Amino acid sequence: MKSKNFITLLDIPKKDLKQLVLRAIELKKMTKSNIAYTPLQNKTLALIFDKSSTRTRVSFEVGMTHFGGNTLFLSPRDTQLGRGEPIEDTAKVISSMVDCIVIRTHDHNDVLKFSAESSVPVINGLTELVHPCQLLADVMTFTEIKGDIKGKKVAWIGDANNMCNSYINASKQFEFHLSIATPDKFIPSLYNKNDNILLTNDPLIAAKDADLVVTDVWASMGQEEEEEDRKKIFRPLQVNKNIMSVANEDVIFMHCLPAHREEEVTSDVLDSNASVIWQEAENRLHAQKALLEYLLVKNI
Ligand code: CP
Ligand code: NVA
Repeated sequence: MKSKNFITLLDIPKKDLKQLVLRAIELKKMTKSNIAYTPLQNKTLALIFDKSSTRTRVSFEVGMTHFGGNTLFLSPRDTQLGRGEPIEDTAKVISSMVDCIVIRTHDHNDVLKFSAESSVPVINGLTELVHPCQLLADVMTFTEIKGDIKGKKVAWIGDANNMCNSYINASKQFEFHLSIATPDKFIPSLYNKNDNILLTNDPLIAAKDADLVVTDVWASMGQEEEEEDRKKIFRPLQVNKNIMSVANEDVIFMHCLPAHREEEVTSDVLDSNASVIWQEAENRLHAQKALLEYLLVKNI
């Protein structure tokens, strides 16, 4: 039987995803109560990271430690991947020795090629197209603070990037209303005009009555050379107090981090009572554990 993968949010059925988020909240409570739960003893998770990471790497490594398993961090610079060994051959070899693999890389197609040859579950740790693991933590955080996200209004303001695409997928899987404000000509690649998503260049329209406002950096990893040009293009989309003021009174603010203060978001929003960024970051750990359990522990 082909193993389960998590390449995009659409890989897991809606009802399982919802259950996974609730399970993450439960696993968090168990961790806080020091209840040991080690279902992945003698299991190894390989992390193939071709881009920098703080939260994703640390959360998977610590999650595996909690679960009694091990991790293997593999930078392509140190493996034969960096010297041109085909991704398909690498997938066959590594998956013959480990139990699960997380990949963070530039080209989404490389994750697809890898997963096609892998005999164990493959998790997308971020590509230029999507960042599905982050959405598990975001929906978990929303659920903890405000309850079910179904039917709520989420405003994405900023770049039409991997996080924006992941919010598009999440709006379908978790059934929330999504409005997106991006500059003209920056259309998210997963946006489909038949979807019930509001796309505008006006952040005030997008943020109106929102329960959650989200943004991300204006230049993602791999776009460093465009950074200065992008600062000018995206300036009108900075999330500031003015934008937050048109949202719901009890709106919350999220950012996957790392954030560039005074660029995509002002410090007074980032540090405001509406901001839940630290809880969101911590929840990467608990959400990742729920994902590993879903993919690797039988009968879950
Ligand atoms: N949000 C996120 O994925 O952070 P890292 O790049 O630090 O993993
Ligand atoms: N959009 C950002 C997210 C980082 C977690 C990037 O891809 O660099």
